[in-house]
Amino acid sequence: MTLVDDVKARSDIVQVISQYADLDTRSRTPKAPCPFHSERTASFVVFPDTGTWRCFGACSTGGDVISFVMRKENLQFGEALRQLAEQAGIEYRRSERSGDADLLYRANEVAAAYFSALLNSPEGAEMRAYLEGRGIDADAAKRRGFGMSPSGIETLAGHLKARGIGAGPAKAAGLVRQGQDGGWNDMFRGRLTIEIRDRRGNLSGFGARSMDGSDPKYLNSPRSSIFDKSGLLYGLNWAADGISASGIVVVVEGYMDAITAHEAGFDNTVASMGTAITAEQVGLVRGLANEVILALDSDVAGQMATRNSLETVWGAIQSQRRTSAGAGATSSSLAIRVATFESGKDPDEVIRGDPTGEAWRKSLAGAKPLLDYLLETAAGTYDLTTPDGKARAAGELRPLINTVPNQYEQEGYMTRLAGLLGVSLEQLRVSAPRTGYRRRPPGALDREPPDSIDAVASALNPDSINAPEDYLLAVVLQKPELREYAMGAAEEQFRDPVNRVVFTMLKDSATLEGAAISGEGDVAEKIERLRGKMLPPTDQKEMVDAISDCVQRLHQRHIRTIKAEENRLMPTDGKALPDDPQQAAALAQRLVQTNDRLQHFFARRS
Ligand code: GTP
Ligand code: MN
Repeated sequence: MTLVDDVKARSDIVQVISQYADLDTRSRTPKAPCPFHSERTASFVVFPDTGTWRCFGACSTGGDVISFVMRKENLQFGEALRQLAEQAGIEYRRSERSGDADLLYRANEVAAAYFSALLNSPEGAEMRAYLEGRGIDADAAKRRGFGMSPSGIETLAGHLKARGIGAGPAKAAGLVRQGQDGGWNDMFRGRLTIEIRDRRGNLSGFGARSMDGSDPKYLNSPRSSIFDKSGLLYGLNWAADGISASGIVVVVEGYMDAITAHEAGFDNTVASMGTAITAEQVGLVRGLANEVILALDSDVAGQMATRNSLETVWGAIQSQRRTSAGAGATSSSLAIRVATFESGKDPDEVIRGDPTGEAWRKSLAGAKPLLDYLLETAAGTYDLTTPDGKARAAGELRPLINTVPNQYEQEGYMTRLAGLLGVSLEQLRVSAPRTGYRRRPPGALDREPPDSIDAVASALNPDSINAPEDYLLAVVLQKPELREYAMGAAEEQFRDPVNRVVFTMLKDSATLEGAAISGEGDVAEKIERLRGKMLPPTDQKEMVDAISDCVQRLHQRHIRTIKAEENRLMPTDGKALPDDPQQAAALAQRLVQTNDRLQHFFARRS
């Protein structure tokens, strides 16, 4: 649960608003004269079960408890959040969170020193020999943070305790876990340990390789507040300078691959730690590199990983384009190339197999542009002898081809794809499904917008009930040229309070960079996430259509909300309208107006 959710769940909206308005709380929906403008009648209504409020009178706005306090106290989002958190007795101390992290880093450092000492002790002789065999001498082992975890059950646990590291941080860092007898047991036993540091050099966690062939081969620190495999690039602390000097980042899969590369002087290498590359990881090298070379194992698994990585790398790169263009640079886009090397080998073996470095340099120099690579390997990836396989190939490759900025190049790729599939260019154009948007049939009045938008939006964030909101914001952040289309939405149509703040910031802020910097906490996090969201590759026209559909969807949802609220103002005791004749007349008129708006809305849509 985020702090925002927590604050909303634990604030009593009636009680909060009572501090500013004289709420008549006898009704299920407490009312008062609006605290935002002066009036005699009570047009301001609170809906406790949805945690919202609305003024049905002159100001005709609404919102939740956070927006109420923002308006009433004239506060920034973060300030209102803090105030409400305090009132609700929720801890709001960001500094303490980082204090926490420091304890975890310290626990890891103490463990690392212990692992390193053990590797260099007589007990570590066998492991040192293993490392020597892989080209890592004592100096290199020290440089690269190798160690050895003791084989006892609670050896490290005891050491941490003796060094004043509490069970809490040790457990939170994933160094120990509670055993069946309730005692603290070591997480890593008898393994070769590898320090995993973030780009700044903080010790986030460990990878620990088994030496006896037992599974799993690598045991990693569990996910924690300081360790998240998908948000780290292994080796970036060593590689940052090399990447920015060359403008190229080489991504390998394994720790050992990255370590061997650095020992051999290939200082722009990072490892993805065996998982598909995430947008967050691409974000880490954004601004440092203008080219990514994926140097993944050449076996089938490697190819799979390449493919798995494609989508996110591609999505993140589209937004990278945006960033560099926005910064005034020429449209130097981040290129992806794929390096292939002798089959059955991994980069570690290729590099050590040729001490001159020539073999590896050749692989990197020969890396192919992503689309070339995909087209060349398509025959091995898809079964191009069947209509089904052809359709899949076309469906996956065409959207990528669509995004090639140069029209002649794009044409060239299309021709190659058509050739591969054994169809004419024309056939390919009409047969391949376009991504995303389909127009709904005209005249369909009260129907939900087309499913394709759901698909687009939920591709962005499958968990979000506010997918259209996320989509609009991600578009504005990643495609500033389409900004005006998205600005057709209105602030109060955003239901998620953080989204609402992001939208307002984007609307007010001339520069997106400024917006990101001024956002604090949850807002900054959300912006970062939206920046990294993959926008399905579609052409400009499809994107504009998708945006207008999301805008309309927000409008529609907003009117529906108001209508539902109005309905709830109707008494449930059989009386058609409220007692006060003036109020009754006003309500009846509003209901008619809202219905009109809905009708209008749908008439425009179809
Ligand atoms: P070596 O066999 O020592 O050369 O290791 P490597 O670094 O070449 O690793 P490999 O190519 O086998 O795997 C690539 C990466 O995937 C590793 O560096 C790990 O990050 C990750 N990995 C491999 N095996 C496992 C495993 O069993 N569990 C987990 N969690 N990760 C693994
Ligand atoms: Mn290996």
